[in-house]
Amino acid sequence: MDLQFSAKFPINDIKNRKPTMWRYREAIPIENNEDVVSFNEGFTPLLPLFVNGKEVLVKQDHLFQTGSYKDRGASVLISHAKEMGIKEIVEDSSGNAGAAIAAYTAKTGMKCDVYLPYKTSSAKISQIKAYFAIVHEIPGSRENATRAVMKAAENTFYASHVYNPYFLHGTKTFAYEVVEQLSWKAPDTVILPVGNGTLLLGAYIGFVDLLKARIIEKIPKFIAVQAFNCAPLAVAFSKGLDAKKFDTKKTIAEGIAIAKPARAKQIIDVVKKTKGHFITVKESEIVQSLRWMAKKGHHVEPTAAATFAGLKKYVNEGIGEDELIVSTITGHGLKDVETPE
Ligand SMILES: Cc1ncc(COP(=O)(O)O)c(C=O)c1O
Repeated sequence: MDLQFSAKFPINDIKNRKPTMWRYREAIPIENNEDVVSFNEGFTPLLPLFVNGKEVLVKQDHLFQTGSYKDRGASVLISHAKEMGIKEIVEDSSGNAGAAIAAYTAKTGMKCDVYLPYKTSSAKISQIKAYFAIVHEIPGSRENATRAVMKAAENTFYASHVYNPYFLHGTKTFAYEVVEQLSWKAPDTVILPVGNGTLLLGAYIGFVDLLKARIIEKIPKFIAVQAFNCAPLAVAFSKGLDAKKFDTKKTIAEGIAIAKPARAKQIIDVVKKTKGHFITVKESEIVQSLRWMAKKGHHVEPTAAATFAGLKKYVNEGIGEDELIVSTITGHGLKDVETPE
């Protein structure tokens, strides 16, 4: 999105490499292999799931080292910090990006300070502390945590998953893996949860890279899911208003509780360009979805359950008979042990 880099895909070599996101080595903008910070993450299973009788393929991105898809971005962003010789970083997060950045910095020995909203799930806070990162719990909204980190970032490297494009050059591997797992074909539709849009924007970059390399012939339609209680992007998309002006309420989907997404315009542009749309889901629908997923053996966190509440609505809207739909479980259920069952 903000980084000029030309991705290459030597497919015959790629097929013979380890099943990790780094198999797309020539498509990831880190120069030297010795700077790559990796837990052999990625190439998560793409499992079928039946939603109202329709088969959807679901990437199991809650199976990463730290239990969320954020490891894709953290691996590339911290590799970039390492290649720049950085020894200390600061980051702000609703929890999962903080956990991912904390784990990857721990692997390199960098010092890591994470700024979180005070009400972040206790499991995420414990996880970040377990990696010996320093946690700053900031009273008030997610935006207050950003304000606090900005101050700290005046003297330290800001490993921001939102602003730093290297993070998106990690999350883009979601698209590469999906396409390879579909025998180098693009799906018709992807359905993703959206707060700051780091997965959505990364996935879009990934599909564009594959289109430019003539590996796929089209970019899928992007369906973006937001919580009804915090849906600034969905409202801006439909009303064409400035996304920064809307009132928001608390939601159990804490990962997408972003009242002022910094990349709002880019996110809306992607959804429009791909002829997709937004779907919002109510709190009761998120809880129902959490239970529905658990009954099928998928223990997911509420933010990830929101995606499947949206997916159900999308399928009910009436889809094409052969429409190939891909979605993802973005975060593990063990990340949030407070939400009512
Ligand atoms: C589990 C989970 N899913 C989805 C998201 C949304 O990601 P983004 O804010 O980059 O759109 C997050 C963000 O923290 C998350 O933790």
